[in-house]
Amino acid sequence: MNNTQTENLNVERILILDFGSQYNQLIARRVRETGVYCELRPFSMTFEQIREFDPIAIILSGGPSSVYDDKSPKADSRIFTLGVPVLGICYGAQLMALTLGGKVVPADSLANREYGRTETEFDTNSTLFGNITSRSITWMSHGDSVEQLPEGFTATAHSSGCPFAGFEDNRRRFYAVQFHPEVTHTEKGTEILRTFIKDIAGAKAEWSMANYKQTAIESIRAKVGNGKALLALSGGVDSSVAAALMSQAIGNNLTCVFVDHGLMRKDEGDQVERIFSNYAVNFIRVNAGDLFLGKLRGVTEPEKKRKIIGEEFIRVFEAESKKIGKVDFLVQGTIYPDVIESGMGSNAAVIKSHHNVGGLPDYVDFKEIIEPLRYLFKDEVRQLGRELGLPEYLVSRQPFPGPGLAIRIIGEITEEKLSILRDADWIFRSEVEAARVPDASQYFAVLTNTRSVGVMGDGRTYDYTLALRCVSTPDFMTATFTRIPYEVLEKVSHRIVNEVPHINRVVYDITAKPPATVEWE
Ligand code: XMP
Repeated sequence: MNNTQTENLNVERILILDFGSQYNQLIARRVRETGVYCELRPFSMTFEQIREFDPIAIILSGGPSSVYDDKSPKADSRIFTLGVPVLGICYGAQLMALTLGGKVVPADSLANREYGRTETEFDTNSTLFGNITSRSITWMSHGDSVEQLPEGFTATAHSSGCPFAGFEDNRRRFYAVQFHPEVTHTEKGTEILRTFIKDIAGAKAEWSMANYKQTAIESIRAKVGNGKALLALSGGVDSSVAAALMSQAIGNNLTCVFVDHGLMRKDEGDQVERIFSNYAVNFIRVNAGDLFLGKLRGVTEPEKKRKIIGEEFIRVFEAESKKIGKVDFLVQGTIYPDVIESGMGSNAAVIKSHHNVGGLPDYVDFKEIIEPLRYLFKDEVRQLGRELGLPEYLVSRQPFPGPGLAIRIIGEITEEKLSILRDADWIFRSEVEAARVPDASQYFAVLTNTRSVGVMGDGRTYDYTLALRCVSTPDFMTATFTRIPYEVLEKVSHRIVNEVPHINRVVYDITAKPPATVEWE
C-alpha cells in the first residue's frame, strides 16, 4: 500500500529539524503564520533528504537533551554547508555552537539555569534583532549554556544568567537564540522569526489557503485521473473539508459514506446530509443508529463503549464499501499534528483511546491512500474549508468525539437518554453562543447517571441530574473551566428544567484539566 500525499511541490519551504521540545509544533505554526510553508521533520533526516527537501532556510528546534552527551540527537553537520540561513533555538542554538567549534557546558550555578520569563538585552545593530527594541522579555528554558562562541560569531543578546542569549555569524547567515521566540511569552518572538524568514531568508511568503487549494486540486487530479475514491465522512471538520476538497478536484468520482451512528447531536446528521447533497459527490448516508444502540445495550464502561463504536463503525463502512466495489483510493482526513505525533512515537500514557475515523484501510479494497490535509494544522484546515465554501458553523465547529453522545451519557445508553441529552445540550450550546461567552473552547452537556429528588408544581420528582461542561483551552491538553456569567447559567438551568422532561437538577462542572478531563468518560 502506498501513501499518497498532496505534495506542496512548488512552494518555498522552511525545514524545522525536531530535537524534541514540547514547543515544536508552535514553531511550525509561527512560520506558517508568516506565509511560508514549513515542515517539522525528525532531526535524523539524512543529508540527501534535506537536500531534496530544498529548504530556503533551516530551523533547529529546542529539545530536552544536553548537546555534549554522546547519545544526544545531532543533525548532519553538512547542513551548515548548504548555503541557506540557519536559526538555532535553545538546544538548536547549543548544537549550532558545538558543531561549529564553540563550547557548551552545564550551567555552573542554579542562578544560571533559566526557566520562564527573562529580561533580555538585545544588540539592535545585529541582523536578527534589527527590528526590535533593545530590551524585552523572553521565555527561557535551559540548564546548559554556551560558554564559548565558535569562530566568526558575535554575541547579540544577553540576560543576567546567560551571556550568549543570542549570537550570530551574519556572513554565513547562522543565527542562534537561547530563548524560545515561538512562545507568546517572548514579547518580540514573532518579529524575530519574521526577520529571519523574510529579511534574512528572503521568503516571498506566498503560502495561503487560497494557493494551497489550487495546488492541492491540481495534484489530486493528476494523481487520481479517472480513478474512483472513497471517503468516510464523520461530519467533523477534517473529513468534511477533505470531502469538499476532493469533490472540487474529482467530482462524482468521489463517494462519501457517512455512517450515522445515531450518537450525533441534535439535527447534526441531517445538517451533514444537507451540505453534501449540494456538492458534486456520491453521498451515501447509512442510518445505523439502531445497530449501534443494540451493540451498546447494557454497556457502561467508557473504554468498552469506545471500542464497540470504533469496531462497528469499521464494519458498517466496510459493508457499504463492498457494495461500491473496488475503489482506487481511500481518502483520509489526517491532519499535520497527527502526522507529527505518530512520527515522534510518543510514549505519553493513554488516558483515553481516541477513536477517529482512521484505522479503516485493512478492511477495504483499494490501491492507495490520499491524505489531502496531511500537512495542515487545524486552523489551516478551517481556513481551507472557508475557501471551499463550507458554511461557517461547520468549519468553526468545536471538537466532537468520534463516539459522540455515547461518552456523554454516563452508564447505559438508551434512546430515551439520548433524546433527553440532545435537547438539553442544544439549549446549553445555543445560550452560550447567544451570550457570546468569551473563551469558550468547547461546551456541551453530560447526562449523569444520578437521579435526585425535586419538586415541580405540586409534585415530587425523581429525575436525572444534568451536568454542563464548558472549558477554555488553547490545545485541549490542559483546560480551565470557563467563567460563564451566572445570568447565563441561570437562564440555561431554567430553560432545561422547564423544557426537557426528566431533568430536575442542573450542575456546572468547575474542574480543570488536569486533574479532570474535558469529557466525563
Ligand atoms: P479529554 O476528555 O481527553 O478530551 O480531556 C480532550 C479532547 O478530545 C476529545 N475527545 C475525543 N475525541 N474520540 C475523539 O475523537 C474520543 O474518544 C474522544 N475523547 C475525548 C474531547 O472532546 C476534547 O476535545
